[in-house]
Amino acid sequence: MKITFIGLGIMGSRMAGNLLKNGFDVTVWNRSPSPMEELKAQGAKTAASANEAVPQADVVFSMLSTPEVVEQVFLTEGGALSHMKDNAIWVDCSTVNPSFSLRAAQAAAKAGIRFMDAPVAGTKPQAENAELVFFVGAEKSLLEEVQPYLNRMGNKVLHIGETGKGASFKMLVNIMLAQSMAIFSEAVLLGEKMGLSKAFLLNVIPNLAVAAPFTKAKAEMVRSDDYEVQFPLELMYKDLHLAALTAYELKQPLYLANVAKELYAEADKKGMGRLDFAAIFKYLEER
Ligand SMILES: NC(=O)c1ccc[n+]([C@@H]2O[C@H](COP(=O)([O-])OP(=O)(O)OC[C@H]3O[C@@H](n4cnc5c(N)ncnc54)[C@H](OP(=O)(O)O)[C@@H]3O)[C@@H](O)[C@H]2O)c1
Repeated sequence: MKITFIGLGIMGSRMAGNLLKNGFDVTVWNRSPSPMEELKAQGAKTAASANEAVPQADVVFSMLSTPEVVEQVFLTEGGALSHMKDNAIWVDCSTVNPSFSLRAAQAAAKAGIRFMDAPVAGTKPQAENAELVFFVGAEKSLLEEVQPYLNRMGNKVLHIGETGKGASFKMLVNIMLAQSMAIFSEAVLLGEKMGLSKAFLLNVIPNLAVAAPFTKAKAEMVRSDDYEVQFPLELMYKDLHLAALTAYELKQPLYLANVAKELYAEADKKGMGRLDFAAIFKYLEER
């Protein structure tokens, strides 16, 4: 079986690396060449374009930043989808909105390609250590074909439902993640203003039942004022935007996530987009 991996950013480079470590035949493509060179050293074949990367592949994975980029690479006329072989499988792991996944699935079906949305939970270390959790939207039989590859990149595969449902569930996870980080930040900053020590707050709050467990790791970033990127703040802003768009499409009010979206928008505008999203603390602290 031949695999192609498109998009070698923070997540994709590590996911493709884990497929290579397990001996799979992997061809890679990325817009900027340096991650391709690193994977070539690990045994990957490289391609000059997405269109040249896909024709031989039985399974194509994509891990691209936004739905607009997935559209540009795969769905535009003459894009990668039209170069894939008949009946191949396209697994889109990018975080996109469910209506986009449905549109991608329709375009894939028209091109004779089987589509699956499989966004992930977990960030840079989990991608590195093959500990991602996949949220899959697809027919069960299609998942069974792809599962051996997912098992090499993650340690849990959740079959959420039919096409689009993986993207739907991922959206819920990320609106909670974004808001929880902002809530944690506000609590610590108010605590400091009330004269409680920052060290005490960062040690104790993440262990309380009211805190989201991931804040333990983010508290270390706050403590050291080092927001080296794991999940870029600009992509969290994108996910909040996609949630707002989805809520609009479904006529479902979404109050707090929209407030959080504007916070992340301002932080992004202040140049924090390529810091980890935990830098929302820094943004609120400096505001
Ligand atoms: N990081 C996380 O913790 C995390 C966790 C779960 C899900 N996700 C999701 O996974 C996806 C990838 O995230 P990431 O953290 O790996 O992001 P990233 O490091 O910013 O990588 C983004 C990827 O998209 C490519 N790209 C961007 N614009 C492009 C364009 N116009 N044409 C072609 N390629 C383009 C980049 O290519 P270049 O290298 O050339 O820029 C890179 O391969 C996103 O949808 C994100 O929301 C991320």
